[in-house]
Amino acid sequence: MRSSRSVALSGVVLVAISLLSCSHEAVVSDIYYGVSNYSFPEDFIFGVSTAAFQIEGAWNEGGKGESIWDTYVHEHPEYTPDKSNGDIAADSYHKFKEDVQLIKALGVKYYRLSISWPRLLPNGTSNNISTDGARYYRNLFEELLKANITPIVTLFHWDMPTPFMDLGGWSNPVIVDYFVDYARVAFNLYGDIIKTWTTINEPHQHCYQGYGADYFAPAIKSHGVGEYLCAHYLILSHAKAYHLYEKEFKPHQKGKVGITLDAFMGIPKDPRNFEDVLAVRSYLQIHFDLYAHPIFSAEGDYPTFVRQRINNMSLAQGFARSRLPYFTAEEVKIIRGSSDFFGLNHYTTYLMSPSEMEFSWSIPSMDHDAQVRMEQDPHWEKPGTEWLSVYPEGFRKLLNYVSDNYGREIPIIVTENGVGDKGQLKDYDRISYFNKYLYQLLLAIHEDNCNIIGYFAWTLMDDFEWSDGYLSKFGLYKVDFDSPERTRTPKLSVSSYRNIVQTRRINFDRYKPLPNKLNHF
Ligand SMILES: *[C@@H]1O[C@H](CO)[C@@H](O)[C@H](O)[C@H]1NC(C)=O
Ligand SMILES: *[C@@H]1O[C@H](CO)[C@@H](O)[C@H](O)[C@H]1NC(C)=O
Ligand SMILES: *[C@@H]1O[C@H](CO)[C@@H](O)[C@H](O)[C@H]1NC(C)=O
Ligand SMILES: *[C@@H]1O[C@H](CO)[C@@H](O)[C@H](O)[C@H]1NC(C)=O
Repeated sequence: MRSSRSVALSGVVLVAISLLSCSHEAVVSDIYYGVSNYSFPEDFIFGVSTAAFQIEGAWNEGGKGESIWDTYVHEHPEYTPDKSNGDIAADSYHKFKEDVQLIKALGVKYYRLSISWPRLLPNGTSNNISTDGARYYRNLFEELLKANITPIVTLFHWDMPTPFMDLGGWSNPVIVDYFVDYARVAFNLYGDIIKTWTTINEPHQHCYQGYGADYFAPAIKSHGVGEYLCAHYLILSHAKAYHLYEKEFKPHQKGKVGITLDAFMGIPKDPRNFEDVLAVRSYLQIHFDLYAHPIFSAEGDYPTFVRQRINNMSLAQGFARSRLPYFTAEEVKIIRGSSDFFGLNHYTTYLMSPSEMEFSWSIPSMDHDAQVRMEQDPHWEKPGTEWLSVYPEGFRKLLNYVSDNYGREIPIIVTENGVGDKGQLKDYDRISYFNKYLYQLLLAIHEDNCNIIGYFAWTLMDDFEWSDGYLSKFGLYKVDFDSPERTRTPKLSVSSYRNIVQTRRINFDRYKPLPNKLNHF
């Protein structure tokens, strides 16, 4: 085993080599051994994330109404490859006390979870608050606090009450007021003990995959129109909920409200080709800054490039108006600055190059508007899910992208990051993924001066991974979905993550598979 002193030295040399190299494939710089030379700040927030629909189950208990995910997977049992649904999931609704102990065993002091909107408001509307639903979250939050774990609560993690979807969901402007009503109920019920809220999780994935495509519920398939309507009213809903809290709750509850955005990072397929560099910019602006810019930039509103591109495309396609709606001047003002922190979910990176059309695109569509071809380097490891290749350097680049574009004043909280496995308990690939991605985060803090204050691993336990059903396993704890008890078993990554949380450093050598030849002994 090499000492950490030699780690630091050879690290410097190898990074220098990889900076000189122009190609992403040329150098595999191994900076990941020994104990990390950098450590996480004393007050760094370590946590773990889940989402209501993915773990709770109890889909029709306690007066819960249906969400679009209940309705969609019930009506389309073929949707998931294992023909599964969220009816029972990990049964966390009944097992939440045990789950709090699992979180405690991880050594983290923070837990990011979401409230199921239709569990709290069976019809979506605030005239009918479910007593059981309200009590469930109260008990859960109190159980967490008793274990010295701070809950960070998301209001919307994709489970829209079905009655609202029947009215168009996020594409109907009236949703804005109904979402604010829901936020008011939650702030009223729990604001005494919940001090950090996020309004909405991953609006981009939700709108792009659910309104644009049919990869996620509600599977509208309104490419290029529905996805922008969804984005537009969702951003407004977020901002209005933020201001509700600012005005009516913050003065006495003294908490914070933010939003969580998602981003794949892009790198030019050929870094020497300026067209590829521009493709990365186009992708990030249309898929990420579309959401980030109205909220986090100094000037507000959609980015100029995005506005021009979609206007141009809409005009050329014969639309009577831009497919991207306009915010009024007043709305631009309300949205700008409406987040106390930058919640960021990140999983993987793509190689990007320009393309006018790809086989899988529709016209119009967000993909066609961005004009970017995306692929992954076959050399990158792919330990679990098909879409997730390991490229840790992309994480640091993304953190820098956010910091460069939206400033270093706004604290960044990485609200999700993780990788799937194939069901094994010795999840060395996950350990390696967390180690490497967290090391890139350390570099972003210490060398790039990015203001990153927290990190949440996705996810506490194996769960319903949306269109993958139960086949994708992202949990630190394994869940036996064949047993009625939904037995939880710690994977090796539980010890490894706990070790990082406790030592504030990454030990790259401690949890490694034995070299093959040693396995004979
Ligand atoms: C830690 O290692 C990185 C390379 O991984 C290097 O850039 C940095 O200078 C090192 N820092 C210290 C304090 O040795
Ligand atoms: C309120 O929700 C409960 C539980 O789902 C339902 O039984 C009841 O009909 C609802 N009441 C109204 C007024 O919609
Ligand atoms: C409210 O939700 C409950 C439970 O899902 C349902 O039985 C009832 O019909 C709903 N009421 C309205 C007014 O939609
Ligand atoms: C939009 O079209 C105008 C006029 O043809 C052109 O100058 C501009 O570069 C285009 N912008 C984008 C982002 O496509």
